[in-house]
Amino acid sequence: MIGKVAMNTNEGRFAGRTIVVTGAGSGIGRATAHRISAEGGRVIAVDISEERLQALVADLGADVACVTGDLCDDTVIIEVMAAAGDRIDGLANVAGIMDGFEPSAEVTDATWDRVIAVNVTAMMKLTRAVLGRMLPAGAGSIVNVGSEAGQRGSAAGTPYTTSKHAVNGFTLSTAFFYTPKGIRCNAVAPGPVATNIEAPFHSEWAGQRLGPFFQTNIPPIAQPEQLAAAITWLLSDDASNVSGAILPVDGGWAAV
Ligand SMILES: NC(=O)c1ccc[n+]([C@@H]2O[C@H](COP(=O)([O-])OP(=O)(O)OC[C@H]3O[C@@H](n4cnc5c(N)ncnc54)[C@H](O)[C@@H]3O)[C@@H](O)[C@H]2O)c1
Repeated sequence: MIGKVAMNTNEGRFAGRTIVVTGAGSGIGRATAHRISAEGGRVIAVDISEERLQALVADLGADVACVTGDLCDDTVIIEVMAAAGDRIDGLANVAGIMDGFEPSAEVTDATWDRVIAVNVTAMMKLTRAVLGRMLPAGAGSIVNVGSEAGQRGSAAGTPYTTSKHAVNGFTLSTAFFYTPKGIRCNAVAPGPVATNIEAPFHSEWAGQRLGPFFQTNIPPIAQPEQLAAAITWLLSDDASNVSGAILPVDGGWAAV
């Protein structure tokens, strides 16, 4: 039932597997790291927040390696690869940031550059590096976190909306090129989820224009574990014939 959080784990589903999870310190990434760990996987947890990663390690107390740093910094990508070692079975590109709901005419260069850098460019660079391990192995599963803002124009500001449409394009292109080589690539498109993501309204016009849509169209706020269930399904062999999917995990928003 939508709104109820299912926590049925699949024992041993990730046993012997190494999965990189970005944004693992909070929200959807944290719930994903928890579930992978509970199902026997080794987690490479990446986040810009040292404090959040320390809390994760204290919670999991299991097979987890942490990399602290900004994914926009190329040296962090190198550190992730070193922490993972020779084998990477899965990658969950979860880290992301919102904009300030700015419409095109109000977008600042700083917001645009940062949102595209974190949500798109860092995702591409880490995926490119991880593919360097997955391709010789002829196996792997990549899951990107998009958004319902990647399916429409009425869910965020222009920078975030653009970045999440780019996540979809990156997902489809990666799936197209590498599914024949044994690597699956999919995305989930969440609706609203109860996390620590910051989403301040910086535009009066956006408030007027988006307000009525938010009041009538948006389903109840989901829990991060509901997203983790879909992400881990796509990462796992349970989804062995799924590649190139953009899966709405949004309480039915996609149907509106
Ligand atoms: N919460 C929602 O309603 C919602 C809806 C749709 C999509 N999403 C997407 O879900 C993903 C996860 O967001 P969340 O809601 O769990 O947010 P969150 O803020 O709770 O967690 C995101 C984590 O990513 C980390 N992070 C951010 N930028 C980083 C960087 N440059 N380098 C390394 N780590 C970085 C943060 O420190 C944080 O711990 C994002 O891609 C977001 O766009 C969220």
